[in-house]
Amino acid sequence: MSISESPANRPGLFITFEGGDGAGKSTQAAKLTEALEADGRKVVRTREPGGTAVGEQLRSLVLEHGNGEIDARTEALIFAASRAAHVAQVIRPAVERGDIVVCDRFIDSSVAYQGSGRSLGTGDVRQLNVWATEGFSPDLTVLLDVDPEQGRLRRTANQAAEDRLESEPDTFHLRIRRAFLEQARTDPSRYLVLDARQPVDELAEAILARVKELLP
Ligand code: TYD
Repeated sequence: MSISESPANRPGLFITFEGGDGAGKSTQAAKLTEALEADGRKVVRTREPGGTAVGEQLRSLVLEHGNGEIDARTEALIFAASRAAHVAQVIRPAVERGDIVVCDRFIDSSVAYQGSGRSLGTGDVRQLNVWATEGFSPDLTVLLDVDPEQGRLRRTANQAAEDRLESEPDTFHLRIRRAFLEQARTDPSRYLVLDARQPVDELAEAILARVKELLP
């Protein structure tokens, strides 16, 4: 039995961007959105955690420093709760209307960060999230692969303060990188894996070319 809803039967498209912190996901998600809108497509651009009123509150709770200790299981459940609301209220309705949803992070981030980074187990974390989303799965996942040191350099170049997860040591981020690559290896038809060090415009071109293959 397949645990995921078949993307092929849906009117719209669901595209996710994944990768370590500082990989450039937001830049590429913005560029893809711009290109698709210029082509006359209706795009819903969103991000996780967040994307709904309850999700944005959960985002502050889990990412900001100063909310006291958050143990790994609680953290995993907060991300999954935010995702459940996001799929039910935003993503699924948009895809069913025929829109293209471009989402910064999805289940694969929980599998990498909580499953592997926090050592909760990738299988359990995936199962929790399949339940939370009723198996709603992306048509395409773009993985921008970045080595943790490079990611940290890029983040500090932007001078943004590091959130709770970003401020974990490089060994944590190394486990996350490996977990993303492993997910791509086991589900190759859903993934486009790109080296995040490539020039921004080259990455954008490669992503758009792949998305065009999926457009009706
Ligand atoms: P992100 O929004 O990409 O950070 P920013 O906008 O500050 O660049 O993600 C926030 C952090 O949350 C990031 O460190 C990854 C982490 N995260 C998880 O640990 N699990 C998840 O399921 C998700 C969606 C994000």
